[in-house]
Amino acid sequence: MIKEAIYAGTFDPLTLGHLDVISRATVVFDRLVLAVAKSDAKSPLFKLDERVSLAKEALVGYPEVEIDTFSGLLVNYARARGIRVLIRGLRAISDFEVEFQMALTNRKMAPDIETIFLMPKEEFSYLSSSMVREVADHGGDTSPFVPPNVEAALRRRFQRESLR
Ligand code: COA
Repeated sequence: MIKEAIYAGTFDPLTLGHLDVISRATVVFDRLVLAVAKSDAKSPLFKLDERVSLAKEALVGYPEVEIDTFSGLLVNYARARGIRVLIRGLRAISDFEVEFQMALTNRKMAPDIETIFLMPKEEFSYLSSSMVREVADHGGDTSPFVPPNVEAALRRRFQRESLR
């Protein structure tokens, strides 16, 4: 039986912390679906198709990872895909409360779907996409935090904005 899981998030943009969770998940699962959430309510910096392209480029070395998009409830998406495992990254204790709430809400709605938590490397435990966006917005170097293609995309995005 092929073991499959979904790793969902906004990925605005994908960071080295996300990549770390992805590589850990591929040790445990045969196939992983990186499900990029539309997340309109978060007013993402990168459009959905840009977030997907950036993830695809960063994940060329991971043939077992498929990149897809979803909107609406994650458990509905998982059911539609016939996948019963959700991966979440747990970076610090501070993540726990919201993750606990989300996992139990998802379980209430879909008792057949399990959430599994993976811990990224300590060096990424402080990292978040919004911190990365803020560093880029102020002209800082994001290369310690994101894959090279994402770093280039951030530079292009904020250069363009400063020219306006
Ligand atoms: N390394 C680096 N950063 C990480 C990380 C890691 N390992 N894990 C999480 N993060 C960051 C994310 O980039 C994000 O940063 P930001 O908020 O600064 O942009 C932040 O931590 C929160 O991440 P996460 O909780 O994964 O939020 P998200 O928006 O990326 O994804 C969804 C949340 C989309 C999976 C969730 O809202 C969802 O399932 N939505 C669908 C609707 C639904 O089903 N709702 C009911 C759920 S109870």
